[in-house]
Amino acid sequence: MWTMLRACVCALGSEGVRVMMESALTARDRVGVQDFVLLENHTSEAAFIENLRKRFKENLIYTYIGSVLVSVNPYKELEIYTKQHMERYRGVNFYEVSPHIYAVSDNAYRSMRTERRDQCILISGESGAGKTEASKKILQYYAVTCPASEQVQTVKDRLLQSNPVLEAFGNAKTLRNDNSSRFGKYMDIQFDFRGAPVGGHILNYLLEKSRVVHQNHGERNFHIFYQLIEGGEEDLLRRLGLERNTQQYQYLVKGNCPKVSSINDRNDWKAVRKALSVIGFNDDEVEELLNIIASVLHLGNVQFGAEESGNAYITTDTQIKYLARLLGVEGSILKEALTHKKIIAKGEELMSPLNSEQAASARDALSKAVYGRTFTWLVNKINLSLAYKDDLYPLSKNASVIGLLDIYGFEVFQQNSFEQFCINYCNEKLQQLFIELTLKSEQEEYESEGITWEPVQFFNNKIICDLVEEKFKGIISILDEECLRPGDASDLTFLEKLENTVGGHAHFVTHKLADGKTRKVMGREEFRLLHYAGEVNYNVNGFLDKNNDLLFRNLKEVRALGLTVLFCCVNAHHTSSLCCSSILTQCFDREELTDKKRPETTATQFKNSLAKLMEILMSKEPSYIRCIKPNDAKQAGRFDEVLIRHQVKYLGLMENLRVRRAGFAYRRRYEVFLQRYKSLCPDTWPNWKGRLADGVSTLVKHLGYKPEEYKLGRSKIFIRFPKTLFATEDALEVRKHSLATKLQACWRGYSQKSKYLKMRHSAILIQAWWRGILALREAKRRRTAADTIRRFIKGFIYRKQPRCPENEYFLDYVRYSFLMNLWRNLPKTVLDKSWPTPPPALTEASEQLRNLCMQNMVWTYCKRISPERKHQLEQKLVASEIFKDKKDNYPQSVPKLFASTRLNGEEISPKVPNAHEPCHPVFPCISVSSLSDGLFVLHVPCEDNKQKGDVVLQSDHVIETLTKVAICADKINNVNISQGSIKFTVGRGKEGVIDFTPGSELLVTKAKNGHLSVTAPRLNSR
Ligand SMILES: Nc1ncnc2c1ncn2[C@@H]1O[C@H](COP(=O)(O)OP(=O)(O)OP(=O)(O)O)[C@@H](O)[C@H]1O
Ligand SMILES: [Mg+2]
Repeated sequence: MWTMLRACVCALGSEGVRVMMESALTARDRVGVQDFVLLENHTSEAAFIENLRKRFKENLIYTYIGSVLVSVNPYKELEIYTKQHMERYRGVNFYEVSPHIYAVSDNAYRSMRTERRDQCILISGESGAGKTEASKKILQYYAVTCPASEQVQTVKDRLLQSNPVLEAFGNAKTLRNDNSSRFGKYMDIQFDFRGAPVGGHILNYLLEKSRVVHQNHGERNFHIFYQLIEGGEEDLLRRLGLERNTQQYQYLVKGNCPKVSSINDRNDWKAVRKALSVIGFNDDEVEELLNIIASVLHLGNVQFGAEESGNAYITTDTQIKYLARLLGVEGSILKEALTHKKIIAKGEELMSPLNSEQAASARDALSKAVYGRTFTWLVNKINLSLAYKDDLYPLSKNASVIGLLDIYGFEVFQQNSFEQFCINYCNEKLQQLFIELTLKSEQEEYESEGITWEPVQFFNNKIICDLVEEKFKGIISILDEECLRPGDASDLTFLEKLENTVGGHAHFVTHKLADGKTRKVMGREEFRLLHYAGEVNYNVNGFLDKNNDLLFRNLKEVRALGLTVLFCCVNAHHTSSLCCSSILTQCFDREELTDKKRPETTATQFKNSLAKLMEILMSKEPSYIRCIKPNDAKQAGRFDEVLIRHQVKYLGLMENLRVRRAGFAYRRRYEVFLQRYKSLCPDTWPNWKGRLADGVSTLVKHLGYKPEEYKLGRSKIFIRFPKTLFATEDALEVRKHSLATKLQACWRGYSQKSKYLKMRHSAILIQAWWRGILALREAKRRRTAADTIRRFIKGFIYRKQPRCPENEYFLDYVRYSFLMNLWRNLPKTVLDKSWPTPPPALTEASEQLRNLCMQNMVWTYCKRISPERKHQLEQKLVASEIFKDKKDNYPQSVPKLFASTRLNGEEISPKVPNAHEPCHPVFPCISVSSLSDGLFVLHVPCEDNKQKGDVVLQSDHVIETLTKVAICADKINNVNISQGSIKFTVGRGKEGVIDFTPGSELLVTKAKNGHLSVTAPRLNSR
């Protein structure tokens, strides 16, 4: 099987491996492994760095070493911090998604909630590696994803807004980072039982106070000074006696770097003012805080001259004036305090003048003290505002905590001083904690899984921690001793003492103790510590001064320095109307001033605060974020291998990896492993019914794992080599394709079938409903029909009765149907005489309707008729009057209208006088036969001698001719229609006769009796 798997993978080749999600292990060729424990060659630093490089090129800035997150600063905004990303990581198993700071945050949050165990996230890395950004991302993640209420929202806002304030007062532009945190920060976020943030607390460590009075070239003082000068309102600056020009202030010009392109002081000022009010500072407090900031600037501008005696005197009175006003002390006291020191000689206090150099350093010491203490006051004030209020959250008695540690990483410069010593000591402590906790948790896991613990070889740095911190024998103790020793203690005597006391220590070397080779790279004023991360040379110059808190350490000097000022301040606060800054009053406690007990040195203070921090961290479950800076130029996309190798070494990442990989490269809970790979074995696919451990065992046996390649614990499988896992992963990738096809087919079939079933069901449902509706309609229709029929029959039976409920329907129906029938069959023309038979009840109405209808038709007909046609019809009417039922060929003439073209009035008029003229009869009458012939006789009166007799004429249109002639001659009543013969006059009294007889055809002959015989066919029998 194993060979088969490998063959499968080979057949696919690198091209065949489909690159899917970044989280897929199969994408490792392109994007490297997302967990360094999966590196084949886990001891190789080159392989480690190559993996980082591959991922960095793809903008994958996060990689795990087990549960440790390695983060490379991208120096550009990546689209991986959106709300969607936060949602993606919320509540998801750590290993199911690609490495991200949100995964670490969510994991810590979930562990806190489910296991009710306090958590801490330790962020380390060198300056500019992205620690502060990382801590902000974590805070934002909690602010967005944790449950919220109105009160919780206030806490969330304050937690978020504490950052800009602390950054303004504690961050500065350095050569390495434009926003470098110059203090260490540990922040607790408190959550109530619902997981909502209800409070917070901040611890600050080792603020770099020296920056207040001096900055290296290209660096700046703390941001707040520039923000105030650039962004402060005119009014405010006037009140503070400041000018809007940073170049005016000695404390701001040392680094010769007033402006930084990546920083907008004016906008930042607005953000800080807003943040201060969110946190709960009132206007007076803000004003007082700014008074102190302005005082520091004025203090920096206080200059000293030298009298002839060498004593210092103040040359800048304006500054004293402002300082007196801002601090609320009298100018003369201030002047004296800055130029004198109080010494106690034989129990008596005396004022001894300082020279100008001493006065300047006293002034700087005062500035540092004031700024440093104000910073601590600010942190305390923020803490008060973040403090989780019992009365507000009564249900949050048992708040759980997630701590965030944003602290300087290992520092190695050309010249390393007291600060680097403290910082590197802090990192030694953190490394010790890390090793202890990681090994402990590894060992615990093995134990709980019932797997034999194989001892891991690792470098235990306790020896170095002891070298630094051991009581009486440690470097800090020796330093303290030297600081307190009366006499001529100096940095070099301290070095000597070190050589004498810890000279033989394996991790300590000085120039004197070193071999020839080492000597070459060490100065005489240096000592070297062999830290777990590498060797660092520390220059002892300034160690004593820095360890002594000048203001308090040396009582003699204390009196001489600012304490006098502050003493005056405090007194003034109590005695005069002048109001000394209440912030300073809180910062410099009166009791502290009068307390004769020796205050702690800086190193001891730091050691103690570190011990407390370790205690805090030990009580919590840690998560680690190791930040790496890819280049010194703050450039995106540049991967400087040398710089990174250096950090990998100093962050102890290879050591991390070695510890983590000591036993097994990969471990997963049985259910997770089985769930992922069960498809690779027929026995476990699709589901394993038995115990999980048996399932995993069956699966790995089927896959051909060799016994030395894995171990089965109580709840987890441990795989020793990454290659074993990768081969399994590759096999899964191959299997996925066939599974995907099968799944697709099944799914398609299933989805189509369910679609079909759904449709079918719907169709049946619709059908049933529709049928029901149809049946209801049919039933209703039948019922109505039966009712109608019943009513009809009943009506029919009662039809003869007067109108009553039984017959009214029938009667109405009969009327209605008659009327409807009438409406459909109304006569179309006046000649159409048809008319439906009405029911008895409507006889009268029918008759009236019929008349109306006829009138209407006639009226319509008449309206449509033209004058010519009317004239023609009038002629036809005349013809009818004359000939109807009298002459045989009249009916034939009826349909044909008289044509005016044949004979009109004008043509007739020359011979026949007009009817309208005075009666002058031309002829008395006209005779015509009743047969169908066309003969007619115009009888001419005989008294007219000129007349030659009657006129016998023949016309093819005899009806028309005679009608027109009769009309023209006004002889309508004088047309004789004769049945047999017509007599006519033939000139001078002579008479002729025309005999008409019916015959078969028209024949005109002269009869023997001299008559004219006309035979005409009979067309109509009368
Ligand atoms: N995840 C990130 N995405 C984008 N830019 C980042 C990220 N992390 C850091 N940076 C960039 O790097 C700069 C330095 O980061 P940051 O201030 O967090 O460093 P630091 O480790 O806190 O340094 P220091 O020790 O000096 O305080 C940031 O101002 C920002 O420009
Ligand atoms: Mg920082």
